[in-house]
Amino acid sequence: MKVIIINGPNLNLVGSREPSVYGTQTFEAYFEKLKIDFPLLSLSYFQSNIEGELIDKIQEVGFSYDAILLNAAAYTHTSVAISDAVAAVEVHISQPAAREEYRQISLIAGKCKASISGFGLNSYKLALLSLNTNL
Ligand code: DQA
Repeated sequence: MKVIIINGPNLNLVGSREPSVYGTQTFEAYFEKLKIDFPLLSLSYFQSNIEGELIDKIQEVGFSYDAILLNAAAYTHTSVAISDAVAAVEVHISQPAAREEYRQISLIAGKCKASISGFGLNSYKLALLSLNTNL
C-alpha cells in the first residue's frame, strides 16, 4: 500500500514551533519511527509552505497512491484550492476545534474520508492504523 503524508506550511518547524502545542519532536524523526512501525506500507513524506506546491503534489500522487494523509496546516482554514484538489484523510497534531475560532472552520474536512486531530504527532499513527485495518 502506497501512502504519502503531505504537510502544509510551518509544519517543517514542528519540534521547535510552539512546543506546548506541537511537541518537541521533529517531524522527520517521527517519520523515521512511523516507517519502522509500518514496515509493510510504502510511506513517503512531502512538506511545503507553498499552496501551489501542495496542490501539485496532491495532483501528482492522487491517482497512483492508495492514500494521502493531509495536514494542510493553516491552509485547512483558508484554501478552497486545496479543498478542491483533495480526497484524503485529514490529520492535525492539535485539536483545532478547541482553539481559536478561525481554526474551527475546515475547508478540507468535508472532502476527506476521515479526520483525526488532537493526538499530537500520534494523530499520523492513528490515521495509518485506520488505513491498515480498513476501519
Ligand atoms: C494544525 C492546526 C492548524 O490550525 C495550524 O494552522 C497548523 C497545524 C495542526 O496540525 O494542529 O499549522 O494543522
